[in-house]
Amino acid sequence: MDQQPVAVIGLGYVGSVTAASLAARGHRVIGLDRRAPVTDAMARGIAPIPEPGLEERLARAASRQTLELTTDPSVLARCRASLVCVGTPVGADGQLVVDDLLAALDDVARFAPRDHVCVIRSTVPPGLYERARRRLARPDVGLALNPEFLREGSAVADLEKPELIVFATEDEHAARFCEALYADQSERLRRTDPPTAEVLKLVNNAWHALKVAFANEVARVTLPVGVDPFAVMSLLCADTKLNTSAAYLRPGMPFGGACLVKDVASITTHAAKHAVDAPLFGSILRSNDAHLRFLVDTVLAHRPKTVAIVGVGFKPGAADVRDSAPVRLVHALLDAGLHVTVADSAVLDARVPPLGLDALRAALGDPRAQAAPDVAHAVAGADLVVVGHPCAEDRAALVAAAPKVPVLDTAGELSRKLSDEDRASLAPVVVLASRR
Ligand SMILES: NC(=O)c1ccc[n+]([C@@H]2O[C@H](COP(=O)([O-])OP(=O)(O)OC[C@H]3O[C@@H](n4cnc5c(N)ncnc54)[C@H](O)[C@@H]3O)[C@@H](O)[C@H]2O)c1
Repeated sequence: MDQQPVAVIGLGYVGSVTAASLAARGHRVIGLDRRAPVTDAMARGIAPIPEPGLEERLARAASRQTLELTTDPSVLARCRASLVCVGTPVGADGQLVVDDLLAALDDVARFAPRDHVCVIRSTVPPGLYERARRRLARPDVGLALNPEFLREGSAVADLEKPELIVFATEDEHAARFCEALYADQSERLRRTDPPTAEVLKLVNNAWHALKVAFANEVARVTLPVGVDPFAVMSLLCADTKLNTSAAYLRPGMPFGGACLVKDVASITTHAAKHAVDAPLFGSILRSNDAHLRFLVDTVLAHRPKTVAIVGVGFKPGAADVRDSAPVRLVHALLDAGLHVTVADSAVLDARVPPLGLDALRAALGDPRAQAAPDVAHAVAGADLVVVGHPCAEDRAALVAAAPKVPVLDTAGELSRKLSDEDRASLAPVVVLASRR
């Protein structure tokens, strides 16, 4: 790295560790905080927060003379970049308070030299990147987001050996700075767009919170029947294929099938029977229903008269339609007055009566739905196609049919498997993942 220092603005949990760690590794750093007791303590080698390894990093930085500490924002005039780590607490209205962040940006706008890069490491609400760009009003300053995922108590270790580093920017100069800053961790570094980075940090923490609340709810529903919740959760975590893995973590259709719906209902009823307050379990089916309504609304927003749905099993390729979400979607669209045609080769392939189209009609369970002999027949005349849970054969047939109408690809399944040529033949494909 060259010799112009990097400023770290805000020396709380994130900033003090960021500044000390970078300086200990030989980067020239200026730590800037409003609170003189914090900068004074760090200048004397005292960690402002009790984090293992922090004083060691401060000592190394002191011996290398790489860390300067101040309360004076005018030092930004000497910095090629600033890492903004100020607090963004939650306000009474539930929104993150960004006043300190905006004040830090004002300092950057006022003092930073030309071609400065400003990297926001604080957790921010959706839309903050654009707001920050307008607030800075310095087109020469490259703006990036680089949310921090460290945990208090292991902050130094988390920061220096992260599982994932994410940055986002619309500015290539800022992108090059971030890549250089994390050059020794490049295999962990992912670039995304600013709106994704903003939401990612919030979703990440919601996920952690959900896991804690889930485990606690498990304890509350197991204790009344004398079951050890630690044993249950330990066995749950022992399955790293389905339980603690990426399985089931892809947005798409609501869940269905022979087991999930009934067993969620069962554990919710068990909780109620024992007078246990279990709002998480109690809201899972409600959330599932909300997603079905969202899909119905998405379809209706296109104002189609005829909708084709490809694949009605409870999961991709399944012939089993028990509690199947695509079938529920068929019914909801029929109830909304639409004409619905359905193709599903897996269901047509039934081995015991009813066979063929009768099997599909039976699966749909509503005489208003039109069972089609194949995908081409289903999509012919449709104003919109929904990719439900198709088998591989139907997915390929859908691409071959190349309908020139909107395709709602709920799980992005189809889009993921398309070649550029196939993608061009389908227009437009509306994927849940990119509706903005
Ligand atoms: N604490 C964590 O474990 C953690 C982990 C990941 C991300 N984050 C996020 O990182 C951000 C910082 O969190 P924290 O816990 O380190 O905050 P903190 O409250 O511990 O520290 C913030 C520091 O910024 C200083 N400050 C505020 N405005 C300033 C300004 N304009 N100029 C100079 N200094 C200023 C304050 O004096 C304070 O020392 C937050 O957005 C937080 O959500 C926190």
